[in-house]
Amino acid sequence: MAKPAKHFMCSACGAAFPKWAGRCEACGEWNTLEEQMPLPALPGGMKPSAARAGKIDFVGLAGMSPPPPRVATTIEEFDRVLGGGLVPASVVLVGGDPGIGKSTLLLQAGTALGRAGRQVVYISGEESVDQIRLRAARLGLTEAPMALAAATQLGDILASLTQFPDAALVVIDSIQTMWIEGIDSAPGSVTQVRAAAFELIRAAKTQGFALMLVGHVTKEGNIAGPRVLEHMVDVVLHFEGDRGHQFRILRGIKNRFGATDEIGVFEMTGAGLAEVANPSALFLAERRGNVAGSAVFAGLEGSRPVLMEIQVLLSPNPGGSPRRSVIGWDSGRLSMLLAVLDARCGLKLAMNDVYLNVAGGLRITEPAADLAVAAALISAASDVPTDPSMVFFGEIGLSGELRQVAQAELRLKEAAKLGFSQAASPKRVAGGAARLSVPNTLKLVEIGHLTDLIGVATSGVKAAVQNKEVS
Ligand code: TYD
Ligand code: MG
Repeated sequence: MAKPAKHFMCSACGAAFPKWAGRCEACGEWNTLEEQMPLPALPGGMKPSAARAGKIDFVGLAGMSPPPPRVATTIEEFDRVLGGGLVPASVVLVGGDPGIGKSTLLLQAGTALGRAGRQVVYISGEESVDQIRLRAARLGLTEAPMALAAATQLGDILASLTQFPDAALVVIDSIQTMWIEGIDSAPGSVTQVRAAAFELIRAAKTQGFALMLVGHVTKEGNIAGPRVLEHMVDVVLHFEGDRGHQFRILRGIKNRFGATDEIGVFEMTGAGLAEVANPSALFLAERRGNVAGSAVFAGLEGSRPVLMEIQVLLSPNPGGSPRRSVIGWDSGRLSMLLAVLDARCGLKLAMNDVYLNVAGGLRITEPAADLAVAAALISAASDVPTDPSMVFFGEIGLSGELRQVAQAELRLKEAAKLGFSQAASPKRVAGGAARLSVPNTLKLVEIGHLTDLIGVATSGVKAAVQNKEVS
């Protein structure tokens, strides 16, 4: 018999390798390769199923059954990320670091659905029934209808789920604690996690309930991470945030029924997760307008405009090899901006440590933040605060030119809504994009090249910056 080709699988990303190695070549994690049991050979090859007698039906592309109505959990931030509520018989994977609030979120979503008259089943493999009741009491949810159980053996769970033919939602917290008797590997291993997810997904599709799987993101190789399940499920959500901050962001990573890149913003309070309907106000709440080195970025998270504060601190480091410490942004992008500021504007920061922080614990991935970061850097270098009534957005190219970014109107509207009166943005090119409608309380300050920004970011101190020896 030929030897099965693939023997080791990475528990973090699911990549398969013929040989063991200390580090996964695909995702770079250490000690995550696990030996896989070869699948038993099928005696006599594959057989057609008895139910279908070896026949499947083929159809054309035309004709469509109407999509099933979505079920809103009534937690708006959650429904938005799902694309407008739960799709019956769909499978949602909610990943996140341990302790970030996944169980709390799903308990709140489940009870909200229960209160809306739907049947909800919550199965925990991590906590006892009493622990969950304690949390429910803390959240004031003890009266909400919900079927709760602590279990980990999948055979028992699947058999018991048939008691709930009308279930709208089944929560499994977490998939890494589930195990199937007869599979010869530990709970949490790639084999167990995949097999358990496969069986649960099958039950969701046949019984018609929406399934939510909690998956811990883990750096240790002994538990399979959610990535090994991403291709099996319909929706992948990440619950993220800094445990030192109260903000939590639910981010759509994959969604077969809606847009990805949507975010839901929550605040972890003493009484559970509170929805944050206006994140910009929250992220800017602690801003002090009169400090040099700060600029407000009019950003976009999914379809939603979010204003956030970029903070920069410079500290002299004449000894060479200066530090570049970045939280919430890409450090490669910061190096590029520093080089452009140096080459095109003569702003020399090579003898300074640069600390950059996105206040509130958000993570920015958009290049549109370039202009706000540049403004914060210029402000820090010149020790003059940026205009507190101004927001910034725009991408910066290597020659210092400003480039248009997506959804300028949305950004401007959000800035106007929060009381800002000026927006520094890339200069519109003649014959370029369609007319921009600018809210009438907002003045647009168009910037064509980075050198124009110096005057704008720290109005009136252009000369000071250019003459100052920042090194
Ligand atoms: P939890 O939902 O258990 O996290 P996960 O399931 O992702 O591991 O949440 C754990 C943290 O949330 C815990 O450190 C305490 C905090 N928390 C609050 O701050 N307020 C609350 O009302 C609750 C229920 C939890
Ligand atoms: Mg939990």
